[in-house]
Amino acid sequence: MNVLLLGSGAREHTLAWKMAQSPLLEQLFIAPGNAGTLLNGTNVDLKLDDFQSIKQFVLDMNIGLIVVGPEQPLVDGLFDFFKNDKQTSEIGIIGMSKAAAQLEGSKDFAKAFMKKYNVPTADYNTFTEETFEEGIRFLEHLESPYVLKANGLAAGKGVVILEDIEEAKTTLREMLLENKFGNAGSKVVIEEFLSGIELSVFVLTDGEDYVILPEAKDYKRIGEGDTGLNTGGMGSVSPVPFADEEFMNKVEQRIIIPTIEGIKNEGFDYKGFVFIGLMNIDGEPYVIEYNVRLGDPETESVVPRIKSDLLEIFSQLTKQQLSEVTIEIDSDYAVSVMLVSGGYPQAYAKGKRIEGLQKIKEALVFHAGTLLEDNGDVITNGGRVLAVTAKANTLPIAMEKAYEQLANIEFQGAYFRSDLGKDLLAYK
Ligand code: AMP
Ligand code: GLY
Repeated sequence: MNVLLLGSGAREHTLAWKMAQSPLLEQLFIAPGNAGTLLNGTNVDLKLDDFQSIKQFVLDMNIGLIVVGPEQPLVDGLFDFFKNDKQTSEIGIIGMSKAAAQLEGSKDFAKAFMKKYNVPTADYNTFTEETFEEGIRFLEHLESPYVLKANGLAAGKGVVILEDIEEAKTTLREMLLENKFGNAGSKVVIEEFLSGIELSVFVLTDGEDYVILPEAKDYKRIGEGDTGLNTGGMGSVSPVPFADEEFMNKVEQRIIIPTIEGIKNEGFDYKGFVFIGLMNIDGEPYVIEYNVRLGDPETESVVPRIKSDLLEIFSQLTKQQLSEVTIEIDSDYAVSVMLVSGGYPQAYAKGKRIEGLQKIKEALVFHAGTLLEDNGDVITNGGRVLAVTAKANTLPIAMEKAYEQLANIEFQGAYFRSDLGKDLLAYK
């Protein structure tokens, strides 16, 4: 089978690396890819919003499966575009309809879905320009901290959590009346603050059946001990020690089963991932958000623990045969540490030469923002540059190995968090 994978981050490099191991794979194309995906396939210069060019490429190269990494093309209707066109309707796509992708594309839609299907989540209300004054009164009835969410996709910047009521009111005004978050902020979800510890749970579904993939914890803040600015993710750990059998049973019964029921009941054409962002509050799971894709940087610790042939699973999923799939998971811990450019998540330099990649023998290196130069150099090309993933049968050994291996890599201004996994040691 020829496969087209859309995306260019470490999530996509990890998926490329995994699918490249499948005997079912003939040719793998990654659009647009990075210097890492070149090791597992062929990069193609396609724009992810140019569905017509993607279609032409798919037809020209006899692609049998399209795997969509990021959410934007799904929220924009890529799945429907292919399914509604006679020339491409039979091609398998790991994704879902535009209507279903609203589970990530609209916070208000996702919250209403959770309410309708009794999925535990924070209490909320949604406000628009017309109901701004009600929003102010709603804030006055809540306790600090205040959680305000721009309804639409806002590149990870749409959630604002504030201690101070006046600041919360100002932010609500900026979102609803002053257009600060653009169209994404024309509706705002205000919700109760959930206090607990977060984790990410991943499910693959064909809209009828589902398989649960390994869970993970990601580290979002730039600084040690979860301090400083939010980032796209500084690394991840899988499995999550507090997500024991009892907890995961609750997640399955209270959250996964009703979510899949909801997808079925709404008649969504869904052939892809459900990423459930959860808060564990004293052993009880609550949904913070749905995403319609794999997480990044979670993928870099989750996928290396999947022993089964992921391409075969994808292929069965698109044929509506997920009920026949059993997935084998490696019990080892995977710790993935992200190396980022100095200054990230604010201004940073690009084009720095990366050295030492070939010295890494006992870990996996997944590229994020990298570029291969004509002279063979690999240079930095983004804020998040590389993820180094190490596996071992205990969490402390996996942590040690990840940091030891990562020390081989150098580029000017490189930064990473040295405390990944530390907070989880208390649980085992
Ligand atoms: P989201 O974009 O919905 O994932 O929100 C971004 C981050 O904000 C989450 O990963 C949480 O860390 C935090 N967050 C979102 N909603 C809440 C909430 N209701 N209570 C506490 N933290 C939240
Ligand atoms: N790691 C969080 C995300 O991918 O949105």
